[in-house]
Amino acid sequence: MTALWTSDEVSKALSPVTAVAPFMADGVTFDSRAVGKGDLFFALGGETTDGHGFVADALARGAAAAVVSRDVEGARGTLIRVPDTMKALVDLGRAGRRRSKARIASVTGSVGKTSTKDALRAMLSAQAPTSASVASYNNHVGVPISLTRLPREAHYGVFEIGMNHPGEIEPLARQVEAHVGVITNVGAVHIGHMGSEEAIADEKGCLFAGMAEGAAAVLNRDSRHYDRLAGHARRFGVSRIVGFGRSEAAEARLLACDLQDSGSDVAALIHGRRIEYRLGAAGEHWALNSVAALAVVEALGADVAIAAATLAKVKASPGRGARRMLKFGAGAIELLDESYNANPVSVRAMLAVLSRTEPKPGGRRVLALGDMRELGEGADADAYHAGLADAVATSGAAQVFLCGSHMQALWQCLAPAQRGVHRPDSASLAGEVATALRAGDVIAVKGSLGSKMKIVVDAIVAASGGEVGL
Ligand SMILES: Nc1ncnc2c1ncn2[C@@H]1O[C@H](COP(=O)(O)OP(=O)(O)OP(=O)(O)O)[C@@H](O)[C@H]1O
Ligand SMILES: [Mg+2]
Repeated sequence: MTALWTSDEVSKALSPVTAVAPFMADGVTFDSRAVGKGDLFFALGGETTDGHGFVADALARGAAAAVVSRDVEGARGTLIRVPDTMKALVDLGRAGRRRSKARIASVTGSVGKTSTKDALRAMLSAQAPTSASVASYNNHVGVPISLTRLPREAHYGVFEIGMNHPGEIEPLARQVEAHVGVITNVGAVHIGHMGSEEAIADEKGCLFAGMAEGAAAVLNRDSRHYDRLAGHARRFGVSRIVGFGRSEAAEARLLACDLQDSGSDVAALIHGRRIEYRLGAAGEHWALNSVAALAVVEALGADVAIAAATLAKVKASPGRGARRMLKFGAGAIELLDESYNANPVSVRAMLAVLSRTEPKPGGRRVLALGDMRELGEGADADAYHAGLADAVATSGAAQVFLCGSHMQALWQCLAPAQRGVHRPDSASLAGEVATALRAGDVIAVKGSLGSKMKIVVDAIVAASGGEVGL
């Protein structure tokens, strides 16, 4: 098998200022801690650190070569000198995309990008060699690095594209040049930087910029922004529009889902064809992600039935709804770990899951929530937090533990009987949650990454007698 990148290909794509000694690279990275033997290392300038400080180390750890924009001391190995390493990364990503014959999907949306991308990875790799972005590599570095990692022999490629600020999606979409683009949904996420949901929809609609010939747009038919997004697709010359959702007008339609703690049994109608499948991740939001993914599979030209059959193996990942059963006292507790991120859309999805999760005899539903970040400051952010009150009430949570300054607004709205405690941060909340739990409880923990609710998860695990297994 040919290497991921040869020195000739890299030279051609990057036009380095001096000639490059021959090498073969099997991987590409910018993180010196993750450098493996044979990787091509990009020395990128970060906000706090400069990758040039790690070049010598990366080469010592076996990197095939390093892309740099200035001299580095003590570097033993092949250096590729370019004026701007970030631009060089984008150039190599473009070269990776241009040489590829793969069918490419791009995924964006306010929530569910990684979930949908990972479902697509499972569905497509069951059929042919597939490459997908790792984790949430969805920004100005993550997208081009993912493109440089697209193996030349891949049949399918799946790329996550994200944004925090206006104008971020279009250049990334133009790098990816997808055949199929899916917008999972539009909600009040990062609204602090964006102003309104309409502005967020307009930004997401830029996913369709620079798409390949004959491209398709997969859109949430249930969203009030559907027409707006379809307009953006057409504006960028994408004429095939496929809707997914519960709506009768959706081409990929969720007909029914029997929701259980361990997953769901789903029936869907994909372009008029009824299919039934088991989905290994719990919650209606996951059932909707799965029909969106099936619509993408169909639009890519892959096999929908084979794809659906792989969904049984798809599970929520740690911090995004993964469930753990832990020994506790004379029994066990069930932990729903959603500590990786939170916004009004995903907190509601989690509360819906909690409301359907039955505690064991003697147990209760317990909830620990940290601040949702990126909703802006002041009154608006407080209002989004207080706005969760109805969903918290219907979740059936017997006790609610909150932390963070914005959660104070939700605290005011809780029924007195539901109130656990409110604390300024997760470190001061963690012990109180762990002590309040008893055998039989279901405990759900959620907050934005910046709210550090993993500290609460860790305290619960530490107070338990370890994993029981589901
Ligand atoms: N369709 C959906 N609707 C509502 N919530 C969802 C949906 N899909 C996933 N979630 C929830 O949202 C959270 C984040 O999911 P995921 O990591 O897939 O989102 P993301 O869009 O990739 O986030 P990020 O912007 O951090 O990369 C998880 O807790 C998950 O349970
Ligand atoms: Mg993500």
